[in-house]
Amino acid sequence: MGEIEVGQCWRDLHDVMSNGIGRVLLFGPPGTGKTYAALYSGIGVVPAERLVCTEELTAGEIMGTWLPTSQHRFEWREGPAIRAWRGLDGRGSRLVVDEVDRASGDALSTLLAITDSAESARWRHPDTMEWVRPGPEFSVVMTSNVEHPDEIPTALLDRFPVTIYIDRPHPKALRRLSPDLHASALAGSLGPEGRRISLRSFYAFDQLRATLGPERAARLVFGPSNAEGVLDALSISAVSG
Ligand SMILES: Nc1ncnc2c1ncn2[C@@H]1O[C@H](COP(=O)(O)OP(=O)(O)OP(=O)(O)O)[C@@H](O)[C@H]1O
Ligand SMILES: [Mg+2]
Repeated sequence: MGEIEVGQCWRDLHDVMSNGIGRVLLFGPPGTGKTYAALYSGIGVVPAERLVCTEELTAGEIMGTWLPTSQHRFEWREGPAIRAWRGLDGRGSRLVVDEVDRASGDALSTLLAITDSAESARWRHPDTMEWVRPGPEFSVVMTSNVEHPDEIPTALLDRFPVTIYIDRPHPKALRRLSPDLHASALAGSLGPEGRRISLRSFYAFDQLRATLGPERAARLVFGPSNAEGVLDALSISAVSG
């Protein structure tokens, strides 16, 4: 099994981030490493903040909320977006927004405000009345499983000048698999209707087959109707690899 080829999409992400673009959308099939890359690539000392969009996500969960304290008083607890605006010493850090196609209503308007260009973005702390602005190192990576960026709300998409279609697993994610699975996990599309099988399934298969054997592991992970096809594809790639 030779070197794993990095792939243009991952090279693009690296080059875009290392050239100072602070707004990137990663989209495409599930389980390729979009969230992982968003959380860890080009990160400074401060860990990334993460938001997962659902229909129920509120503005308070993004910006912050008043929380009751023990003395029957309320205290403002800052949310992940403002924490990322601030980062370390006001320099800003990474905000990851997952499943961004699901953002709607209140949460969507709040995300529009948070991801606005640094010159326009500002927010007033409701307790101290301090004006907060995104620090110079603030960056946002959004991820989504949509097949086309058109499915992301236009106003939000407009704030993200670079969108990258992630069509293959990250090479470091592949390396966590046994070498005989690399080619199949990279090629993907072994599932029903040629759908890509997620890395998560390959991890589970790799783990289970060690004790349960390949047939049973394949049945459990890929389902009875796909197991045989997957095993065939694996033995073919083992011969040709
Ligand atoms: N660079 C990497 N190094 C090691 N493991 C990785 C890497 N990238 C991804 N993984 C692993 O692969 C799995 C899938 O990654 P991740 O959750 O980032 O995928 P995703 O593309 O965000 O999927 P989804 O679209 O379903 O949210 C996780 O178990 C993750 O830990
Ligand atoms: Mg994800």
